[in-house]
Amino acid sequence: MWRARIHSLIARALITLALLESAWLVYPIVRRHVLAIEDTPAARGRRVAAALGCFGCHGPEGNGGVRNPGSEEGTVPAFTGQTQMMFVKDAGELREYVLDGAPRRKREDPDYRARMEAAAHRMPAFRSYVDGGDLEDLVAYLRAASGQVVPDEPRAARGAELAADLGCFGCHGPLGAGGLPNPGSLKGYVPGFWGKDFDDLVRGDDELREWIAEGGSRRLREHPVGSFFIQRQAIKMAAYGRFLAEDDVGALAAYVRWVHAGSWQPLSR
Ligand code: HEC
Ligand code: HEC
Repeated sequence: MWRARIHSLIARALITLALLESAWLVYPIVRRHVLAIEDTPAARGRRVAAALGCFGCHGPEGNGGVRNPGSEEGTVPAFTGQTQMMFVKDAGELREYVLDGAPRRKREDPDYRARMEAAAHRMPAFRSYVDGGDLEDLVAYLRAASGQVVPDEPRAARGAELAADLGCFGCHGPLGAGGLPNPGSLKGYVPGFWGKDFDDLVRGDDELREWIAEGGSRRLREHPVGSFFIQRQAIKMAAYGRFLAEDDVGALAAYVRWVHAGSWQPLSR
């Protein structure tokens, strides 16, 4: 008798466990369907770059610094900090770098080839490893990361400098493309400055300033579901207000607005 009872208890425990486990397994799939998960070309391109090993030579997040003995620069060039303009004329040449290791005009130049051969590291040709979609995502990423897509308007331009200096893109992705992982958050990633996530989180200029100065908006802090996820998420938005002049908060807000408006997008293709 007691043996049968134990068996049925164990069976029930196992079934419960299996149910819990499969619920846990389908959670990300359900989440993807229920919540609108945003994915920008530049955020995808950043993941493609990581998967292809670009950061091994071009440094973490493409910030450069990897020694390249025998080369003129001494290090492998960065993708960031306006370095790209010294190497490429346009997006077409970015594609050539990725596919063939360098633009044709350089590959045909004997001096260039000799300089490349003298260096420890050479830019590989990735033609066999990328398809068309990956290539366009990579180009979108490289342009977003370049530090060359900046506003003309002086206040927003000052905001761009502050954003680079404070490292906003470290969490929000290149040019605020979003999509970096954030365990425990509602959607699983840090929101960007570009799309619908931003519209949901930031309603108007007052809230934008609140986000930057206080690290969150009053509206979400008082929201039962919103505040649960805000507290639970591993990575939190910093409250920069204590460290910045009022004017600088305004400049950052003007810059984030400019990124969100997206007039730069055709230029980055
Ligand atoms: C084995 C090391 C290595 C790897 C891996 C590598 N690169 Fe490069 N890359 C270089 C070197 C060296 C140069 C400098 C070439 C020159 O001087 O023309 C370069 C130059 C570039 C340039 C032009 C300069 C700049 O930084 O803007 C781009 C764009 C570029 N690489 C993209 C990529 C991408 C995208 C990947 C991954 C798909 C990648 N590289 C992987 C070594 C590497
Ligand atoms: C340590 C990582 C981190 C850094 C650095 C960071 N943020 Fe955030 N930020 C977040 C997270 C996480 C959220 C989302 C928080 C939430 O949902 O509660 C967020 C939200 C925001 C939002 C509102 C939502 C949205 O779609 O973007 C704005 C605006 C913002 N940050 C601007 C900035 C600016 C400007 C800087 C640089 C001065 C910056 N952040 C630096 C992590 C960061």
